[in-house]
Amino acid sequence: MKIILLAALALVACSKSEPAPAPVEAPKAAAAPAAAPEAAAPAGQSEKEKALANPYPNDLGPATLPEETLAAYPADVRKGYDLLVVKCAQCHTPSRPLNSRFDDADTWNRYVKRMMNKPGCVMTKAEAKVIWQFLSADSAKRKHGAGEAAWKAHRERLVADFKVKFPKRYEELKAADDL
Ligand code: HEC
Repeated sequence: MKIILLAALALVACSKSEPAPAPVEAPKAAAAPAAAPEAAAPAGQSEKEKALANPYPNDLGPATLPEETLAAYPADVRKGYDLLVVKCAQCHTPSRPLNSRFDDADTWNRYVKRMMNKPGCVMTKAEAKVIWQFLSADSAKRKHGAGEAAWKAHRERLVADFKVKFPKRYEELKAADDL
């Protein structure tokens, strides 16, 4: 159910950049109805499918930050958040970065670059930098210092919930040291 929801959300997020599928009329399309839309999809589609087929505990958390958290951030950090909820929602929901276990500037630097280089990611270098600045500042604020205990409790709840909902994927991520 969650996967279907995520898929629907991601489709909505990407609908502007992707051409509508051609109406099915040719006998060729009818012969392979399931494969036809995939074959016609742009390269980015496969990264999105990969993102949606392989959930993370992060995905079970909220897709936005509370207004009171955002209000305490300087304008440039807030700008990075506003970009993230659009640019980082092209393949998965913003929940994935917002509830991520990643909690420092260096790790985010690597991951923003990794995401930016994925086929189908529409994002300029300047936008990626502003998003990275947000992720670094937000991690320092929400995941360390006074916020650390609340953050750890939140992550533990997500992982416990995930274990129940996606037991196989949980074991896979655990084996890969990615929980
Ligand atoms: C083109 C599709 C696409 C876009 C755009 C995208 N992602 Fe991803 N994301 C993926 C895929 C696929 C995965 C699955 C793991 C992988 O391939 O790294 C993923 C996984 C992740 C993870 C989980 C990694 C882990 O091991 O815990 C995080 C965090 C993440 N993305 C953050 C972001 C951020 C931040 C942005 C925006 C800067 C972004 N993503 C934009 C496709 C995308």
